[in-house]
Amino acid sequence: MAYRKAYNNILETIGDTPLVRLNKICQHIPATIYAKVEYFNPGHSTKDRMALQMIEDAEREGKLKPGGTVIECTSGNTGMGLALACIVKGYKLICTLSDKQSKEKMDILRAMGAEVYVCPTNVAPDHPDSYYSVASRLNKEIPNSYYPYQYDNLSNRKAHYLTTGPEIWEQTEGKITHFVVGVGTGGTVSGVAKFLKEKNPNIKIWGADTYGSVFKKYHETGIFDEKEIYSYITEGIGEDILPKNVDFGLIDHFEKVTDKDGAVYTRELARKEGLLLGYSAGSAYAVIEQMRHELKPEDFVVVLFNDHGSRYIGKVFNDDWMRDRGFLNERNKTALDLVNRHNGTPLVTVGSEELMSAAIAKLKKFDISQIPVVSGNKFVGAIDERQIFKSMTDGRDVGNMRVSELMSAPFPMVDSDEDLRKVMKLVDKEVSAVLVKIDEDKHHIITRHDLIAALH
Ligand SMILES: Cc1ncc(COP(=O)(O)O)c(C=O)c1O
Repeated sequence: MAYRKAYNNILETIGDTPLVRLNKICQHIPATIYAKVEYFNPGHSTKDRMALQMIEDAEREGKLKPGGTVIECTSGNTGMGLALACIVKGYKLICTLSDKQSKEKMDILRAMGAEVYVCPTNVAPDHPDSYYSVASRLNKEIPNSYYPYQYDNLSNRKAHYLTTGPEIWEQTEGKITHFVVGVGTGGTVSGVAKFLKEKNPNIKIWGADTYGSVFKKYHETGIFDEKEIYSYITEGIGEDILPKNVDFGLIDHFEKVTDKDGAVYTRELARKEGLLLGYSAGSAYAVIEQMRHELKPEDFVVVLFNDHGSRYIGKVFNDDWMRDRGFLNERNKTALDLVNRHNGTPLVTVGSEELMSAAIAKLKKFDISQIPVVSGNKFVGAIDERQIFKSMTDGRDVGNMRVSELMSAPFPMVDSDEDLRKVMKLVDKEVSAVLVKIDEDKHHIITRHDLIAALH
């Protein structure tokens, strides 16, 4: 077995990421599909490659000098890659981010010693507060500073031409027929596409775009349509500008993916493939789903997943965040969903002719507040701790009373497929629980407490 060698610094570990087959998520697609999993880079994204390339090219060209400050506008991942390069090479780093980026991305940059400026998302690129303008202003103000500007800096796509493209070609032994990736600055798609098409011009290049971005329309019509631009939720892909790194001639097709589909597939990739990935990975995978009619059994698809899901735990992997945006395909919960939470524990009942002391003993033993009363195989009443308490304060000898003397009306009965919202309406100040009919002689109970726990 050949183990990895020892490295001189963290920058040497950039690249040579694994190609991992997708198995379950794409079972219905008649093609071989592999993922280039870029979170194996030390900064957990593909951007480490281009960040290092931009810094080293700038050093060679004399644009970045010892003791200098690097200033970049970034959706977070380029900032992380730059942070690694700046730490090892001894530069200061300032990043401007738009406020739609996840808090995790900002905190990670701060953890790596970068200074972070958070700028509004909903402003035009030439607005003085945009993250492009703030970076450019800081670059003018701060002496000995260098602004790589990843959008137009062609070292970006060069990094992928020199590393990512050759890796994919080697790892697929030249069998690749389709390359799929999200497009932001365009560095990844253009660099990889150039290398692959030089090897085999028939390889198809598909770019994932977002609704709210200019790429697809520009690619298909040559028109930069400002009406296409609106703010969207997906992070890392789609643009409101035309970066020089996007080589439109190398891209065969742009496919737009909704914010919802990108998020839903990101979650599916985690659960079905064990790949905890960033939001744009779901968008890139969605392109394969949307284009699957174009794929044949002999096709060999490589989809590149840009970054790691840890940066999106508070977003796509958070149910509340997904629900707030209408991204969760939740069926309404039913009574049975709640009964299933009782984990097989049987329904506790008390007979109407038993003494109340027996009912009280059961309330204590099972730590419950109410208990259905049965006579034969019928529910004839209910005992609730509030009734017991009231009778005690009235001075009655509760323990020696018959259950039938103290019980109130039986709890309402619902079918197991009843919508939980309807079940809630049956529970009020007087009625503390509902009985659920599972089959003819099997019942269970949903209490006020269960409803609060389930719906909170
Ligand atoms: C998470 C994520 N996905 C995709 C991209 C797009 O890659 P590229 O800029 O090379 O087009 C980026 C770039 O910022 C990104 O951060």
